[in-house]
Amino acid sequence: MDPIIQVRDLTKSYIARERRGLFGATARTIHALRGVTLDIQPGELFGLLGPNGAGKTTLIKCLTTLLLPTSGTARINGYDIVQDDAQVRASVGCMLMGERGLYWKLTGRENLAYFAALYFVPRHERAARIQGLIDRLRIADFVDRPVESYSSGQRMKLAFAKSLIHDAPILILDEPTNTLDVQSARDLRAMVRDLHAEGRTIIYTTHVMAEAEELCQRIAIVDRGQVIALGTPDELKASLQQSGVLRFQGVIPETALPQIHALPHITEATLSERDGHQELVVVSPHPRRTLPLLIQTLYAAGAIIEDITPSHVTLEDVFIAHTGRTLAEDTRVK
Ligand SMILES: Nc1ncnc2c1ncn2[C@@H]1O[C@H](COP(=O)(O)OP(=O)(O)O)[C@@H](O)[C@H]1O
Ligand SMILES: [Mg+2]
Repeated sequence: MDPIIQVRDLTKSYIARERRGLFGATARTIHALRGVTLDIQPGELFGLLGPNGAGKTTLIKCLTTLLLPTSGTARINGYDIVQDDAQVRASVGCMLMGERGLYWKLTGRENLAYFAALYFVPRHERAARIQGLIDRLRIADFVDRPVESYSSGQRMKLAFAKSLIHDAPILILDEPTNTLDVQSARDLRAMVRDLHAEGRTIIYTTHVMAEAEELCQRIAIVDRGQVIALGTPDELKASLQQSGVLRFQGVIPETALPQIHALPHITEATLSERDGHQELVVVSPHPRRTLPLLIQTLYAAGAIIEDITPSHVTLEDVFIAHTGRTLAEDTRVK
């Protein structure tokens, strides 16, 4: 089967202009995408996982014709994203993070009617299509109120309905659960699963590892504008299978980190804050053999170790092993 989404060596650079003094300005180039190549098969539920600033939104905006790439090509449903932009837009329903693109003074139903017209849903089908989405997403209680009165969960549901209005074969969701409470996020993931079961191709973007792992069949891990790992969650984790992961909790001074990096058999080590504790994650091909030396080094650096857990490899560890950073770290260029 031909891929329904083909991305070839896509790059995107932003020129960021900064004022200097009264008359001066300097321009900086930010390389948001540095050559992304991907194939997504029809019917796949595909995850894009990467920290803030990785380039996920930029990639999605290029794929949905909201941004022109700097170089490279992509085909969506057989159409070129630059040459055939109208056909690309007809092939994709999209929900972008933050910018929900809704009209606040209009009711939800009026918004849906407007977008149905904009996306060329035949006039005689519109009312039934809209009612179908209202029933499906259970938004009847509030759909006839103005959008400005909605909670964030209600706005999300309406934005989701909007992305489905023209019944496109491809659905692209950019961090859709970002501002949602736990229950709304769960509802959304359930809807995504249903839509996938019906045969839609879905790209699901997130910086939350557990979400990608729970939902997606294949995942591209993106960092600093590049795909650094690609596969099913199991394949990605198997790439580290020879390695083990050790987690240390307690009070751990940052000065210990360079010393740990200098030890033999350390693939990566990162320090982060978790639930008020510091957590040191060490990836090593020989965790058992390395453990005594690690403990010695930590004590010598003044650490207070409260807990040590050898653990299963998670997708976050895959990211750490590739980058030396955690997914929570913000990598935006400012
Ligand atoms: N309009 C813009 N102008 C300049 N830089 C931008 C713009 N949009 C995004 N960036 C930069 O491009 C990089 C990728 O951003 P983005 O695609 O939003 O990442 P993500 O969605 O993964 O958080 C970041 O360094 C960000 O600061
Ligand atoms: Mg983003």
